[in-house]
Amino acid sequence: MAEKEPLFVLEGVGYRVEGARILEDISLALEEGLIHALLGFNGAGKTTLLRILNLLIRPTEGRVFFLGQDATSGSNDLLESRRKMVLVSQDPLLFSGTVFSNVAKGLRFRGIGRAKTAKRVREAIEFVSLAGFEDRGVHTLSGGEARKVALARALVLRPRALLLDEPTISLDPESIKELEDLVRRINRDFRTTVFMVTHDLAQATRMAASFLFIHQGRIIETWRAGDEKGGLRYEQTRRYLFGGPENGPAQEGKTGS
Ligand SMILES: Nc1ncnc2c1ncn2[C@@H]1O[C@H](COP(=O)(O)OP(=O)(O)OP(=O)(O)O)[C@@H](O)[C@H]1O
Ligand SMILES: [Mg+2]
Repeated sequence: MAEKEPLFVLEGVGYRVEGARILEDISLALEEGLIHALLGFNGAGKTTLLRILNLLIRPTEGRVFFLGQDATSGSNDLLESRRKMVLVSQDPLLFSGTVFSNVAKGLRFRGIGRAKTAKRVREAIEFVSLAGFEDRGVHTLSGGEARKVALARALVLRPRALLLDEPTISLDPESIKELEDLVRRINRDFRTTVFMVTHDLAQATRMAASFLFIHQGRIIETWRAGDEKGGLRYEQTRRYLFGGPENGPAQEGKTGS
């Protein structure tokens, strides 16, 4: 069988602002259809990398390919690519108005007719278990409900990629489970590739098939679910995952600094 083309390919991506190196020499290929978890200490560059994947910011070095198209060439129209992915940040920006109008918003921008919009919006609201909330003002929602609205808004657009920046931060344990389940269903039912940043290791382990660890702006290690038991090479990754090299499985690997 032919190798599937990765959804994203990054080649030597770097990002600098005002002389500060935020990202450095990142090369990776993200397989379509999986849930990928991006882990790393505060300030490592996770949110910046998400914004680069989302084509919100252009790297200052290297190239980003989305669905085989070079998004960094300058000549390609990024709007079409941007429409195929959705970024949900930890504090999703909801527009004023109702749950229904928020979920419908993206479709209106894409010029989809009224009847079809209404149908899709109701389905999405149901999918995230918010049926009955259609006419609620979004400012009356709890944090967990607002996060679900953001996911419903993403869902109606049928994105190829869902980029999540700490999606369950400050949610209670039940809401966390619900949101995790929802993201998993989106991944499974719509084959949406998920790329999520989380500091919740148990969550990453529950959800992701593929892991990337970023340290000081570099992806120093990637692994598949289960492989971390035997194979982590870098002391920093072990420190993040296990709380210190002494707590991790015995290794002879590099320190990676
Ligand atoms: N526009 C900017 N100008 C200067 N520094 C920036 C800019 N954007 C990000 N940084 C710096 O780049 C580093 C990476 O930031 P980023 O937000 O990507 O980290 P993060 O891994 O998401 O961290 P956290 O886990 O705390 O959310 C930080 O040190 C941040 O201060
Ligand atoms: Mg961040």
